[in-house]
Amino acid sequence: MNTPERYTITAALPYTNGPIHIGHLAGVYVPADIYARYLRLTNNDVAFICGSDEHGVPITIKAKKEGVTPQDIVDKYHAIIKKSFEDFGISFDNYSRTSEDIHHETASEFFKTLYDKGKFIEETNEQLYDADANQFLADRFVTGTCPKCGNPEAYGDQCEKCGSSLNATDLINPKSAITGNTPSLKQTKHWFLPLEQYEDFLKDWILKTHKKDWKSNVYGQVKSWIDDGLRPRAVTRDLDWGIPVPVDGAEGKVLYVWFDAPIGYISSTKEWAARVGKDWELYWKDKNTKLVHFIGKDNIVFHCIIFPSMLKAEGSFILPDNVPANEFLNLEGQKLSTSKNWAVWLPEYLEDFPNQQDVLRYALTANAPETKDNDFTWKDFQARNNSELVAIFGNFINRVVVLTHKFYDGSVPVPSEYSELDQETLAAVKAYPAVISSSIERYRFREGSQEFMNLARLGNKYLADEEPWKLIKTDEDRTKTIMFVALQIAAALAVLCEPFLPFTAAKLKGILAIDSSDSSQTSGKSGSTESQWNDIATKDILIASGHQIGKAELLFSKIEDDAIEQQIDKLLASKKANDAEKMIESTTVEPQKETITFDDFAKLDMRVGTIIAAEKMPKANKLLVLKVDTGIDVRTIVSGIAESFTPEEIIGKRVTVLVNLAPRALRGVESQGMILMTEDPQGKLVFVNPDDKDVANGLKIS
Ligand code: MF3
Ligand code: ZN
Repeated sequence: MNTPERYTITAALPYTNGPIHIGHLAGVYVPADIYARYLRLTNNDVAFICGSDEHGVPITIKAKKEGVTPQDIVDKYHAIIKKSFEDFGISFDNYSRTSEDIHHETASEFFKTLYDKGKFIEETNEQLYDADANQFLADRFVTGTCPKCGNPEAYGDQCEKCGSSLNATDLINPKSAITGNTPSLKQTKHWFLPLEQYEDFLKDWILKTHKKDWKSNVYGQVKSWIDDGLRPRAVTRDLDWGIPVPVDGAEGKVLYVWFDAPIGYISSTKEWAARVGKDWELYWKDKNTKLVHFIGKDNIVFHCIIFPSMLKAEGSFILPDNVPANEFLNLEGQKLSTSKNWAVWLPEYLEDFPNQQDVLRYALTANAPETKDNDFTWKDFQARNNSELVAIFGNFINRVVVLTHKFYDGSVPVPSEYSELDQETLAAVKAYPAVISSSIERYRFREGSQEFMNLARLGNKYLADEEPWKLIKTDEDRTKTIMFVALQIAAALAVLCEPFLPFTAAKLKGILAIDSSDSSQTSGKSGSTESQWNDIATKDILIASGHQIGKAELLFSKIEDDAIEQQIDKLLASKKANDAEKMIESTTVEPQKETITFDDFAKLDMRVGTIIAAEKMPKANKLLVLKVDTGIDVRTIVSGIAESFTPEEIIGKRVTVLVNLAPRALRGVESQGMILMTEDPQGKLVFVNPDDKDVANGLKIS
């Protein structure tokens, strides 16, 4: 059918500052895996490449926070991420890491090549600097207001709200993420890639060539960047974590993480090729190789503008054929967030739902955020399992297998003449590979998964219409034909489900005792166009009469309500714990004031007192007029606490009073002292009582 082609498929290298969650899976890894498995099944030559992105500021920040080294952080998460991908059946041909020597060499060499070719601009200018932290602030070390959309939480390299790519100095009201300080400016030298010089190339390559075949969300973003005008982009940073800039006069500087990370695709390919005895250059330099980058939408600028410009500048590499970026997945109506712990983490899923990888794969695919942001809910997950995988696919297979054993001891029967419905059904089966191929080749995995489920529906309907369980009593020959046809559908499903549901495919092939060609292995048997996928369309018989099938086994099992409730509870509980932690962290402590002498202190006369009367100051929202028994006298104190307390609730309260503060008139009432108060994180005033849980250490008494 198709001529085998060579594909280099990359999936965004995940940052090693936390485990993988369902947002990563739905956006990048599940679609990439479906695509890679499908291409292998149809006998293409595939290199499916990934690895850990171990440089960059988020890792340094995480290490600082936990009081460990960045290396400790990346070692920990690299191991966790790699294992969870394996357990989840993501069939990378190679999973590397950017701390490997081969990557340091490849990235340094790439930089050197561009440097030697004069592709960079060298410039000394002012960058944001945090003097207390002794650190230049770029990327995630600095936050501020996005000049494009006004998002107050934009980062120094990017605004996640509007997707703009930024330079740190673009931010309005920048703040150091390390100390919270407002940064100063300091001179430093960096190398820049002058993106504006690639504008014509990019326009020609993307806006002309790929207007039609790239997804509209991707095309639209790229077009608006180009229309906005491209600017030089710094490719080096003043940091100590990363790949040292390999030229003289660059001490203390490293490659910008977004310069080195995409080169990680190349290093990982090299590592793989060396291991399996292939030529890596074919996968990156041969014009006939198709390079496809799977990413989330926040990575579009890097994969469609910056990395292609780097590849173009280098000169010997191919450019991506497509960048099918997905939108974002939300969780139960809220944005997924690692820092807010609002996520379903892959390692936890694998533990809570053992051997049910395919359920999550299916739920994420059937509801993938392909053209717009989408919502994952545990209820939908349950429904996808119970009413589709169990009730349609599982049910069909189970009926076929159980009846084959019951009627024929597991041996595929010999059919007699086909009815019209049989012929139509078999013809419909033959059409499915092309239909699903077309969906997958257009990166419509969601549609592909539904087409595949439609074939199972067709099988179910066929059995329901023909009722072999009844017919066996009256027409044995006809029953044999029906069961033969049903078994052909089952065999087709075993192959066609493989890109989407690889664990199920293996299990089903085991049950049907049919040849298992495993799509997680690199195929590309050169020259051969034979494949089980294509066989479905061309062969009349997929599973022959007399073939002995294996034991019946359930493909899926029902997920009960309590398992779902447990997940929802877990989500809410972890969010609550996280909110509490954040509240404590977010209490910003004001710096200590200048030192005072003991004599200064001794001037303050503070007494214990009791509020004996309180009333609102007429026409003033904030003020209460109090009568306080100070032990010396009963005096009037005007206090700005009316928004936090009603008069009734404070009568009888014991308070600390500064009694020798010079009296002053407030709204015509003389205030003769001051009550000491503090403010909780929500801005509510509280009387000073350190046993009060709402009062954190460091809060100022005033
Ligand atoms: N680590 C980045 C992220 O998670 C993705 C890097 S993709 C690569 O957003 F191209 F740089 F490798
Ligand atoms: Zn913005």
